[in-house]
Amino acid sequence: MSTKYELKNLTTGRTAEFNALSGTLGPDALDISHMIRDLRLFTYDPGFMATASTDSKITYIDGDTGVLLYRGYPVEQLAAKSSFLEVANLLIYGSLPTKAQLHAFQTSIMRHTMVNEHLLRFFQGFHHNAHPMAMVSAVVASMAAFYHDTMDISDPRHREIFAHRIIAKLPTIAAAAYKHTLGQPFIYPRNDLRYCANMLNMLFAVPCEPYEISPVAAEAIDLLFILHADHEQNASTSTVRLAGSTGANPYAAISAGVAALWGPAHGGANEAVLGMLDGIGSAANIGKFLQRVKDKSESVRLMGFGHRVYKNFDPRAKIIREMCYRVLGTLGINNPVFELALKLEEIALQDEYFVSRKLYPNVDFYSGIIYSALGIPRSMFTVLFAIARTAGWVAHWQERSPIRT
Ligand code: CMC
Repeated sequence: MSTKYELKNLTTGRTAEFNALSGTLGPDALDISHMIRDLRLFTYDPGFMATASTDSKITYIDGDTGVLLYRGYPVEQLAAKSSFLEVANLLIYGSLPTKAQLHAFQTSIMRHTMVNEHLLRFFQGFHHNAHPMAMVSAVVASMAAFYHDTMDISDPRHREIFAHRIIAKLPTIAAAAYKHTLGQPFIYPRNDLRYCANMLNMLFAVPCEPYEISPVAAEAIDLLFILHADHEQNASTSTVRLAGSTGANPYAAISAGVAALWGPAHGGANEAVLGMLDGIGSAANIGKFLQRVKDKSESVRLMGFGHRVYKNFDPRAKIIREMCYRVLGTLGINNPVFELALKLEEIALQDEYFVSRKLYPNVDFYSGIIYSALGIPRSMFTVLFAIARTAGWVAHWQERSPIRT
């Protein structure tokens, strides 16, 4: 039986009753869809702090206790035992794949990695110093003009082909954007490699010499991709859902998600964290920097700290912190930026300003340090986030009309 609530206008005495709907997990949600009819009232909730924009069974976050579940599985468990493609399959299809299903999915993804040659020529039109996120969002939107023949969104098989194509081709598009900024030749995908190893090869190989893919680099990126794969109704995912809800071409909806992810309050934060650490320079300046953060007239934020939902440690940040140690240790990198980040974290976590506001390091506090240790330039950080989040975007886009029922 659903719980009922009553809302009363204390001036007129007029009342209305509301039903509470059960959430997939977590608290109930009040069904206020008839509030305007019954009480001539809208609700005001900027940032949707207490508003569910949709019902969804994909991802659950409990921000107070630092829990993140993909389809019911704790992210820590998936990070320890799964690959990114297995997690993408889980998000999209709703349950962990069998060995045969995973093999078929991986094969399909690796067979869709090439992009139409005409689409590749788009990069010639961009200036050499264009931001890769600008190129990626434009080229992804342009995919709507190339793959529209198999894009009847009422056809489950078409939707599945779209899902596989966008996941497969995004690393290729990202690498093409990067090579364009370097003025280096585009490196074609290698379907014999695993997803992240192939991406590293496309980013760093050149035609004139062999390129050896570092296993720890491929493993670290796979882990970061798992942790970035979904995060329920965040800004970019809500953007994809909203754009997709009009029946728009799904490549255009994903492009809108890429654009929304770009901002420093969202996926752009990992790039901003390194800019901030550069600005601080050394541990001796941390105190002065934190004074500026706390001074409201300065509008300076401690980037990589705080989260719209987590008011506790972001569970992803803990895992990334450990991987950060491993990557730097294995690659023998003595990174003063990492040392500075650790010191900054230590001081901030004891500072009353951050403690009282429940501001903890988020996923992006460490991801940029790993990416830069792997030689990935800052302008590509958010692009890599977009590749990972595409799995979540696709899952949310197709949740209204699942591929497999
Ligand atoms: N540095 C300093 N003060 C902060 C910070 C921060 N990073 N984050 C929040 N606050 C303060 C804020 O000024 C406010 O103080 P007061 O109560 O005195 O007005 C209080 O904490 C509550 O802040 P809020 O703005 O209500 O918090 P929010 O939940 O709306 O903001 C956020 C979430 C992520 C936009 C914000 O914490 C922030 O800007 N963080 C830095 C950017 C960042 O790291 N973003 C990555 C998010 S994780 C990646 C992703 O999932 O996309």
